[in-house]
This record gives sequence, structure tokens and C-alpha cells, in this order.
Amino acid sequence: MKTLILISIMILSLAACNNGGSGNNKSGSETTTDSTKGSSVRRETWGTVDGKEVYLFTLTSQNGFEAKISNYGGLITSLKVPGRDGTANIVLGFDSLKGYLQKDVPYFGALIGRYGNRIAKGRFTLRDEAFTLAVNNGENHLHGGLKGFDKVVWDATPVEDASNPGLELKYLSKDGEEGYAGNLNVTVRYTLTAQNELQVEYDATTDKATPVNLTQHSYFNLTGDPSKDILEHTLTINADKYTPVDKGLIPTGELKDVKGTPFDFTTPHKIGERIAKVEGGYDHNWVLNKATDPMRLVATLADSASGRKIEVYTTEPGLQFYSGNFLDGTLAGSDGKPFNKHAGLCLETQHFPNSPNQPSFPSTVLQPGDKYHTITKYKLITQ
Ligand code: BGC
Repeated sequence: MKTLILISIMILSLAACNNGGSGNNKSGSETTTDSTKGSSVRRETWGTVDGKEVYLFTLTSQNGFEAKISNYGGLITSLKVPGRDGTANIVLGFDSLKGYLQKDVPYFGALIGRYGNRIAKGRFTLRDEAFTLAVNNGENHLHGGLKGFDKVVWDATPVEDASNPGLELKYLSKDGEEGYAGNLNVTVRYTLTAQNELQVEYDATTDKATPVNLTQHSYFNLTGDPSKDILEHTLTINADKYTPVDKGLIPTGELKDVKGTPFDFTTPHKIGERIAKVEGGYDHNWVLNKATDPMRLVATLADSASGRKIEVYTTEPGLQFYSGNFLDGTLAGSDGKPFNKHAGLCLETQHFPNSPNQPSFPSTVLQPGDKYHTITKYKLITQ
């Protein structure tokens, strides 16, 4: 019989406490440790937003992998992975809540909802009813609007699974929020598994029909040094087609073959190899090939210098590969180093952008009584 010894320790005086813009002065941390396996979930106070407590949770797996996640925006602020050059944080982010409360932070590490990516002109029609959403990207709606799921405080519960430490986040997106219909109850569960995967499981239910498209917006840089760009990283995407876009990055509706184009990542290619041939850089949705198992390997990202590699598995039909084209050095990390163009890249598992206006795309509409359920896993590998 598996014997678990769970020890909860309250360490009030030793806690690190970074106050956010509206931060408070309370300090405190709490650790749940499985002493038999060495995994733990530690909670520190990080500040307050909208009068709600914001925490930073540190998940440590039995193999020593570490993810720091906040209940503000469901942010992954750090993901430490061993490489040939030691252990390094492979995601862009900040050490303090204040960093994330700056203007125009481009969704570093955030949970995205109610709808990941763009809905053209913030408009769509559902059963003859016209909806107008908040518009926040030129004339379009992006990543849930002005105050998407990346800017709200989620209710957080550490998951005390001995082998797989986790964090469960819950948020009720109210009827009318950002223009969407229906009270949407969302649960996102992050797990750092014993197999060195960061798993993200998304669940939602609604009381009125609504589009839902949840994703995770971490910017990866496998070198662990954001002053180096990601153009030398090698990428594979298991997709024979992608969705071409117009000037506003809205899919035209066509599913185009990648063969013979710079969008062909069916075999490994360095990101920098053909990026100059893609106007503005990569910021497109790939139509992921199907497999017998709906949870299949869809992409691989590798940095040969450090030996770090990520495999992305998902149940989703699409993947937005965004090569950090709009990063321009305005924001800097907590170490003062600027996040320049291509300092990180996103691999956002998703349904296709603008699906509510493209009847030929797989539907994103969640009906009352139905259950939204998707899973994405990032397997962290050192070669
Ligand atoms: C989009 C980009 C956008 C970025 C946010 C990505 O998911 O595809 O166009 O600029 O998110 O900063």
C-alpha cells in the first residue's frame, strides 16, 4: 500500500513576498510536501488584484522539475528544465506581480479565454442572435477582449498528488463578460507529472450557448537566456495544412497545403531558416493532422546547444505558432534584459481563429449541458 506522508508547514516569517501594483504587505508561504517522493506545492503571497489575494505557487516534481504558477491570469511565470548547461527557466516572464501589471504585457505565460486568438471585428452570430464583443486588436477581438482570463484572479487549490503535484484554478466568467453570453464555469488544472510533463487540462460548462477556445500563452526560449533569440531552435509541426490569413491576421477560410512553403514543418526546420519569406514572421494556425489517439504528438521544439526539447501533445485541432514578432524590447525581464523580437515563441494549442465566423471550421460553440474538455501536455526532455 502506498504510504503518503503529507506535511503542511506554515512558514510565515521566511516567506518571499513581492507586492504587486495593488499589492498588500502580508507575507506568508505554505508548503505541502510529500516526504516519501520529494514533490511539493509551495504557496507564497504575491499581492492583490481587484481586492483579491494573488499567490505564486511553486510546483516541484519528484525529478526536480519546477513550475511557478500564479492564480492571477493562471500565469506560468517560470518553468525550470535541466539542460547540458545546467537547469534554466525556459519561459519568458517576470519575478514579481508588478511586472505582469505593466501596460501591454503580451500575455506572457497566461491562460487565454474565453476565446484564444482573433474573432473578426469582434462580431459573430449564433442562432440568429448577433453578438458584439470587446475589440482590442485593431478592429478585432483578441484573446478574450480587454479583460480576458489572463487578467483575472482565479480561485486556486493545490493538488496534493504525491507523484504529480498540481494546481487547480477555477473562474466564473459571467454572462455578458466582454460581450459573451452565458455564465461560463471554467476549471484549468496544471500538473507536473512524474514523466516530466507539464499537463494543462481545461474544463468548462455554460448556461447559454457560447464560443469557447482556451489556451496557454507561454513564450518558450529553450536556451534559458531571453537575450538570445529563438531563430536557431528547430521546430516540427505535424500538420499538412495551415490557415492563411489576411492583413489583420484573420484566416481567409482556406486550408492550404504547407508543402513547398515556409510553413512546412512536417520535417524539422530551424525557425530562422525561412522566416524572412513569411511577411511579419510566423503567426499562423496549423491544421494538426489527426491520429487514432485524439491525444497525439503535434509539435517538437528543440535547442541543440542546450539539449533541451519540448514535445507538445494535445487533443486540439489547431496550433498557433507565433514567433514573438511583436516583441520589441520595450519590456525587460526582472534581470533588466529586454525582451527583443523573437526572444520567445508560443505554441498555442487551440481551435482555429475566427471559427465563430467560419462555418467550415470545427465548431467552438459550447452548448448548455455539454462539457468542454481539452488536454495539452508539454513533455520536457533533455537530450
Ligand atoms: C497572436 C499574436 C499576438 C500575440 C499576443 C498570439 O497568440 O497570434 O498575433 O500578437 O498572441 O501578443
